[in-house]
Amino acid sequence: MNKLKNLLNKKNKSKIVCLTAYSKNIATILDNHCDIILVGDSLGSVLYNFKSTRSVTLDMMIEHSKSVKMGIKKSLMVVDMPHNTYRNSSEALKNAKKIILKTKCDAVKLEGGKKIINIIKHLIKNKILVLGHLGVLPQSQKGKFRFKGKKLTERINILKDAKLLEKTGVFSIVLECIETSLAKKITRELKIPTIGIGASSYCDGQVLVTDDLIGLNPINVRFVKRYTNIKKHINNAIIKFKNDIKEKKFPRKKHSY
Ligand code: KIV
Repeated sequence: MNKLKNLLNKKNKSKIVCLTAYSKNIATILDNHCDIILVGDSLGSVLYNFKSTRSVTLDMMIEHSKSVKMGIKKSLMVVDMPHNTYRNSSEALKNAKKIILKTKCDAVKLEGGKKIINIIKHLIKNKILVLGHLGVLPQSQKGKFRFKGKKLTERINILKDAKLLEKTGVFSIVLECIETSLAKKITRELKIPTIGIGASSYCDGQVLVTDDLIGLNPINVRFVKRYTNIKKHINNAIIKFKNDIKEKKFPRKKHSY
């Protein structure tokens, strides 16, 4: 698959760009600019106001992904496997196959290292492309969010997990909220690319939730840079529409039959 080869070739040459999409219209815009489009289970909190991603279902991921797929021509499309859909190898394979069959995505993403390594191995053995995810794991996050890699044991375990995932055959790993020098070390020691979110500029690529960077989702965390305030633009357009109706400026003849 050329898309994958091109992506892997970027290691140490040029940065990888990854963003989330939950629907066709956003995916269409992203597709011109991204190497990877991720249908993230972050849609649970961003679109559905869930307290965590743990309530996201397989059907929700599939329906959103089907829409996203319609907007993609060239980017590699990855779909998050939601919580409780990969508790053992056979469940994971059944659900990964369902996601791929129904959405025509290229790969799936699973959260975790050593704990789920046999599950990932089983998927890869069955020719499923897997994107790994280490550091902060929202599906298992209990209590307050804290970046990873402060404690030595945590650093050692994350690095071990990264190497284990690479050995198992994942094509890349998302590093979420990992201390800078650890993200740098992992990126240097792996042959596959790392994609950071709150994990410094040393990663081979970066991912953000699109709704966060365009100002559609009200979030205030250190690792998000807001590039525009799209809410303001939408608001202004709606005000103009409303005023046009009240002042009888819309619809005009040209909008009518
Ligand atoms: O669910 C998601 O959007 C993600 C990214 C933030 C990496 O996993």
